[in-house]
Amino acid sequence: MKSQLLDGKVAPSVLAANVLDFLNELRDVEAAGAGVHHFDVMDGHFVPNLSFGLPILAEFKKHSQLPLDVHIMVSNPDETALQYVDHGADVLVFHIEAARHPHRIVQALHDRGVLAGVALNPGTPAAAIKEMLRVVDVVNVMSVNPGFSGQKFIASTPYKIREIVGYLQEVGRLDDVVIEVDGGIDANTAKLVCQEGASLLVAGSYVYGTSHRKDRISALMDALKR
Ligand code: DX5
Ligand code: ZN
Repeated sequence: MKSQLLDGKVAPSVLAANVLDFLNELRDVEAAGAGVHHFDVMDGHFVPNLSFGLPILAEFKKHSQLPLDVHIMVSNPDETALQYVDHGADVLVFHIEAARHPHRIVQALHDRGVLAGVALNPGTPAAAIKEMLRVVDVVNVMSVNPGFSGQKFIASTPYKIREIVGYLQEVGRLDDVVIEVDGGIDANTAKLVCQEGASLLVAGSYVYGTSHRKDRISALMDALKR
């Protein structure tokens, strides 16, 4: 069964929150209907930007009422993935392009009792994660090139989701793996990806970039229900 921690939920991306007002920001999206917090870690190397690291994650965890989906856009997930678990991740998503021994990372995460996810960049073919589909709990299909909030949704993403769904059917895990989509999600793009089987929607600017957060999260929840 798909993880109930994640399935059918909207995950506002903290990257688009007001960093000087984190506490109110996280409380605000929780009250507006968020189901998960998406926490983006960027190392300035795997992606051309820096975001938040371990101390901020630990502080965030103390105040969060929701599970933390930690997406590490870093060059060395083999060495660092577990540190994010120590600091509060409930779900740890690493990039297939950066991992040297992805099964070892997944095993280590499972040994620690957290959910394991693999992310793939828009330029990475779905086939690159085929083997991982036997073991992960989540696949994060990046619908923008990672690094920044507020970028345009890449239109071929729904086709890639369809391919991944086909692979999941082949290995008999369609009912076990949550398909997460990350980047450029709004009410319209959400429909496109949910039609293909996405069940966890990350949204940065669409949710945090407005004062109408409740309406925006509701619009995304509507897309998930169809
Ligand atoms: C991009 C991050 C995303 C980002 C999404 O590298 O992984 O989580 O915050 O932001 P929007 O929804 O604004 O594209
Ligand atoms: Zn992300």
